[in-house]
Amino acid sequence: ASPQTRTATGAETGAAADTREQRGEYLTTSTGARLYDTDHSLKAGARGPTLLQDHHLREKITHFDHERIPERVVHARGAAVHGVFVGYGSATNVCKAAFLAEGVTTPVFTRFSTVVGSRGSADTVRDTRGFATKFYTSEGTFDLVGNNIPVFFIQDGIKFPDIIHAAKPHPDREIPQAQSAHDTFWDFVSSHTEATHHVMWQMSDRAVPRSYRMMEGFGVHTFRLVDAEGGTSLAKFHWKPKLGVHSLLWEEAQLIAGVDPDFHRRDLFDAIESGAYPQWELGIQVFPDTPEQTFDGIDLLDPTKIVPEELAPVQPVGMLTLNRNTTNYFAETEQVAFHVGHLPPGIDVTDDPLLHARLFSYIDTQLSRLGGPNFNQIPINRPHAPVNDMLRDGFHQHAVHSGVAPYKPNTLDGGCPFMAGVETGAYVEVPQVVAEGVKERSAPASFEDHFTQPRLFYRSLSPVEKEHLVRAFTFELGKCYEQAIRERQLRVLANVDAELCALVAAGLGLPAPEATEPAAEVAPSPALSQLGQVWPAD
Ligand code: HEM
Repeated sequence: ASPQTRTATGAETGAAADTREQRGEYLTTSTGARLYDTDHSLKAGARGPTLLQDHHLREKITHFDHERIPERVVHARGAAVHGVFVGYGSATNVCKAAFLAEGVTTPVFTRFSTVVGSRGSADTVRDTRGFATKFYTSEGTFDLVGNNIPVFFIQDGIKFPDIIHAAKPHPDREIPQAQSAHDTFWDFVSSHTEATHHVMWQMSDRAVPRSYRMMEGFGVHTFRLVDAEGGTSLAKFHWKPKLGVHSLLWEEAQLIAGVDPDFHRRDLFDAIESGAYPQWELGIQVFPDTPEQTFDGIDLLDPTKIVPEELAPVQPVGMLTLNRNTTNYFAETEQVAFHVGHLPPGIDVTDDPLLHARLFSYIDTQLSRLGGPNFNQIPINRPHAPVNDMLRDGFHQHAVHSGVAPYKPNTLDGGCPFMAGVETGAYVEVPQVVAEGVKERSAPASFEDHFTQPRLFYRSLSPVEKEHLVRAFTFELGKCYEQAIRERQLRVLANVDAELCALVAAGLGLPAPEATEPAAEVAPSPALSQLGQVWPAD
């Protein structure tokens, strides 16, 4: 090993973490001194005042006082479990990542979540669900941080604080806790019509999943894949559940939220406990890496657009099996830190402006959520690949770096042998022409079409799915205090589909407005009519 290699953490060697089984014959302080009594503080006589010298009392109370860390600013409520991913080898012609090779087994940790609610909110609310998977690959950690909806609300990450401020509870009353039924949310999405496609999915049955085990997952953004020869292609990631996609009825979701707010986490843990391990097939849609970065006229850098599977089939590349529950929720689920920039060789980012903001945001929030820059040394975040970094010191540093020269090149620690062979590493930038022109705050014209895909989505639904969608819009908009917001959202729906708008308007007792945007007419074709329908179980 290079002299720079860290020692003594056990992280990179896979040695056992610091487990405290809370068994044993005697209790100790955090420094190992045996205690004979933890029920009585040290007092001056049985009725006397408590003495400041009682170290055990002070340690016990002080530690308790600092038990809480901030919940995630979004996706605060979640449940996570361990599993394995096995590559099929079918992706090796387009992606050199070792974990995708045939038969390679990679340990994973998957966290499912709601987006808006606080850590103690109910599971079955109408919301997008997070679907984040950490692959501990032999070439470094790969985090696929996705959602159960294939598109996002906004096209540029600079609006992320705005949409989240709008979706979180109202600042004055902290209402509602975990639903989209409120004025600020509808105020935002009716004013930012790029959100329409995501809102359509969110008002559909997809936003009230029956179980985490029965949800699809999507990487949303387009990524760039690199093959062994350096050739590139563009790709979107999909998770397909073996149990199929199933939803709750809205009435069921509401009742369950009261009767069993832990419904989804209980379902996940109980299934694994009983040996019914949920499985998902990972698939990719692959597109040629052209200078335009479009496919069949669809801008691949626009995260509010899908590419219909009929135009680009999802090709299976491996299988995820979740098979082990957590031992300690805080240590694992609460402390896990995902990052869209954790990429292995063979997977790279594109210039999607939403993705670029995410590349900054996750590490930034984790610096404060997990108390400093060393959170990747927390056991659940430790890579299973060898680590040889020059990152030093900082709060909660557990690694003992043995090198004396944490810089490169150096002549004291035997140089930097690890820089050799860099061409096989990650973050090898693919030569690309960067956009010409002046610096500007703008978006491409291709980002301006906000209604064609929402219209495709609506027209692809079955009658009962349409009915649920109409009822969801009517229910949620009915909760708004401001009439003007309802009317503005109806004008948005008029641009999606006249029938949808008329039905929601009737439900709200309001007149249906006319469309203001010229509709790119989309005849429901047999191919596109598949959109939004359930994935059949095997
Ligand atoms: C957390 C997905 C967009 C900021 C998460 C989590 C998921 C997720 C699944 C939960 C991670 C976990 O379980 O620990 C997505 C998807 C997005 C998106 C699919 C769009 C396609 C964004 C954007 C930003 C952002 C644009 C900011 C610019 C955050 C932050 C967290 C988070 C700060 C909390 C992370 C933590 O505390 O560990 N996101 N997100 N996300 N996301 Fe996103």
